[in-house]
Amino acid sequence: MKHMDIIEKMTVEEKAAFLSGKNEWQSRDIPHLGIPSIFCADGPHGVRKQAGEGDHLGLNPSLPATCFPTAATVANSWDEELGEELGRTLGAEAAALGVNVLLGPGLNMKRSPLCGRNFEYFSEDPYQAGKMAAAYIRGIQSRGVAACPKHFAVNSQELRRMAMNAVIDERTLREIYLTGFEIAVKEGGAKALMTSYNEINGTYANENEHLLKDILRGEWGFDGMVVTDWGGSNDHVRGVACRSNLEMPTPGLDSARQLLKALDEGRLTMEELDTCVDDLLDAVLTLTENSRDGAEAEEGKETKPEEKPDGETVGTADRKSGKSAAGFDAAAHNAIAWKAAAESIVLLKNVPDPEPLLPLKKSCSVALIGDFAIRPRYQGAGSSLVNPIMEIATMETMISSYPLVNAGCAAGYRRTGEADEALKKEALDLAQNADVVIYCFGLNEISESEGMDRSHMRIPQNQIELLEALVKVNSNIVGVLSGGSAVEMSWHHCCKSIVHGYLGGQAGAGAMLDVLTGKVNPSGRLAETYPVRYEDTPAFRFFPSTERNSEYRESLYIGYRYYDTARVRVQYPFGYGLSYTSFAYSGLTVSETGVTFCLENTGECDGAEVAQLYVGCWDGAVFRPEKELKGFKKVFLKQGEKKQVSIPFDDKTFRYWNVATNRWEREAGTYQILVGACVLDIRLSGSITRTGTTDRLPYEGLELPSYRTGFIQNVDREEYEKLLGYPLPSGKWMGELGLNDAVCQMYYAKSGLARLIYKVLTDKKNKNEAAGTPDLNLLFQYNIPFRAIAKMTGGMVSMEMAEGAVAVVNGHFFRGIGRIIAGFFRNLKANKQYEKKLGN
Ligand code: BGC
Repeated sequence: MKHMDIIEKMTVEEKAAFLSGKNEWQSRDIPHLGIPSIFCADGPHGVRKQAGEGDHLGLNPSLPATCFPTAATVANSWDEELGEELGRTLGAEAAALGVNVLLGPGLNMKRSPLCGRNFEYFSEDPYQAGKMAAAYIRGIQSRGVAACPKHFAVNSQELRRMAMNAVIDERTLREIYLTGFEIAVKEGGAKALMTSYNEINGTYANENEHLLKDILRGEWGFDGMVVTDWGGSNDHVRGVACRSNLEMPTPGLDSARQLLKALDEGRLTMEELDTCVDDLLDAVLTLTENSRDGAEAEEGKETKPEEKPDGETVGTADRKSGKSAAGFDAAAHNAIAWKAAAESIVLLKNVPDPEPLLPLKKSCSVALIGDFAIRPRYQGAGSSLVNPIMEIATMETMISSYPLVNAGCAAGYRRTGEADEALKKEALDLAQNADVVIYCFGLNEISESEGMDRSHMRIPQNQIELLEALVKVNSNIVGVLSGGSAVEMSWHHCCKSIVHGYLGGQAGAGAMLDVLTGKVNPSGRLAETYPVRYEDTPAFRFFPSTERNSEYRESLYIGYRYYDTARVRVQYPFGYGLSYTSFAYSGLTVSETGVTFCLENTGECDGAEVAQLYVGCWDGAVFRPEKELKGFKKVFLKQGEKKQVSIPFDDKTFRYWNVATNRWEREAGTYQILVGACVLDIRLSGSITRTGTTDRLPYEGLELPSYRTGFIQNVDREEYEKLLGYPLPSGKWMGELGLNDAVCQMYYAKSGLARLIYKVLTDKKNKNEAAGTPDLNLLFQYNIPFRAIAKMTGGMVSMEMAEGAVAVVNGHFFRGIGRIIAGFFRNLKANKQYEKKLGN
């Protein structure tokens, strides 16, 4: 152990208390031993440090910070250098705001386009997500701040996210859901990692020995700190036994007492406790040392942050000038946010009719239509919500600084979804009098948010109705989309050009105008597939699970792995995006170590291409997708320029997880080596023969027709059980509600009062949805399991009291109330005694 000298001086009470949060965002300090606390803050696309009262969903204001494009957006850049630059900038802001651990990036796999948090995640492909995440992490950590990739693992749905069990076969777990994290840990060198809320094969992620001990610490050699998601700890003792170091946010001393009791009863050893304390101590001491060093280096260089009496940094900013009192250069950071947004924009359609509409001609008159042109949708909702430091750029205010004839701007629709004939008429009148209509539309706020999944993939109908009316008065329509996840495009034919900006952050509007006018040549490529219809998606029948088990029956066939193998037509394939120039691929050489080929810019202007390497094994004995992404490179080429491009093979190029040997293996055979501009546009192909690493193949003697063909939408229970290797656990709720059931399951409650509370909450939730504004706190409460009430109330509620509440819900009113009251006093007394032992 690294810090035995300190650990030896700690009392057992101090050790136990150290492993959980002191408040919403900080770890506990132990001043007499010189142990400071560290500050965690959300930060996947901007630092969200709450200045006053902490509430982790961001309802209380956070200090102003740069709002960068979200991960789903930046993933489309396929640019690792950009990811690293963004990371450095995020890290610098975090350091300036006194944050030690930045809670991001998020890299869960986009199993279904309906996951409400897809806007926070990179991709449907683990390799792409892992590489982008690793780049962010390297950047963030270069500033002495720990990045905290999340949520480890298999966290694919928001509905009852804290009370859901992902049932998944080991190969899919390894190849799809863990590979991104593996890259983030091994190549990004992540110093912290956040566990997810859900169970994986019956065990909560935070106490999952297989995940945390065997794989994370054992196989990947992770030596940083593991932190629970907020309120995500189920059994602290089991978490600590698995080397999960910090239970957040505020379980109070009840949690520490559980550790002491487990030590007494022999369920936890002192060595396990010490090991956990040691990891956390190491993180705390290193990170606080880093921030001291950073502060000294900065001293005198920049404006010193204003200090509040309690020592907290105040991040006031002059929004007009972009000067931040927190000590970072907000204008420079805005420029990086702008660049990131511009490099991530995807040109989806640009029909030559006879000339493409984009880039817009200098003299053309443009009608700017759509509420998003006036009030952009630039970030998602939930714990990632940033309080932007600069005034949000809008297309309406910025258009005059571009060489276009501005015909005017009209909102056209209400973003909350209601029909509005007056707005529509105003937009139609405007459209008639312009050469080109730029129509800004997409997903509104209620469509995607942490805490809820989408119920369909459509853009609100009132926006589509307006588009269909607009095309009748002016057929020159450029559709400018906003939104953090894939949508259906039944309206596709109405637009001659379509540009997708995703959620572009505070500077997204300028970035979009740069692309529309040709100042920037679009170089974004989709990091997720756009299916034609939701019904076509692989997990269609099993997402989101409405009972406890979420069955990952589609196995490896997530995203393009399914569409490509089962030959399902899609709207836009993975890796797709157009450019104002064109690129030619030639001269592929496949060597033992990788591929080399020539890329040439054959069009009329400078631009960047994303060359993608896919690998297949078409006559292999082990089932697998048609092809899988194994490398990529973003290459900038001047007009007419040619470059030799190399993409190396790595440890992931030929591997698969063999469930028979329980190891990564390579199958003997011939592999197809495919280089192209997207998964469906392969320009060069070759092959290579590899020897195998074992003769013992998996699935021998098993009939797995769906998995062998990739037609996995209807896998029956029997075949799925063969893949799993064990019978499906029952996911049906039975008998009484338990500590791990969620509040939104109180429709099962025996107590009429509980059912009434459920009804009131549901009505409220539905009302908010109808009004177009998600109430994040309500969504959080709705999906929270009863046990988490004891984990988030700063010691006010003990587990015994939570058990009392469950008894009430189950109709044992007097017994339950008795436990709550007795528990309250017992907890109060025990807390006081414990505080005394801590010397408070
Ligand atoms: C989210 C995390 C976030 C944490 C703290 C949780 O609800 O799932 O991603 O970091 O809150 O805000």
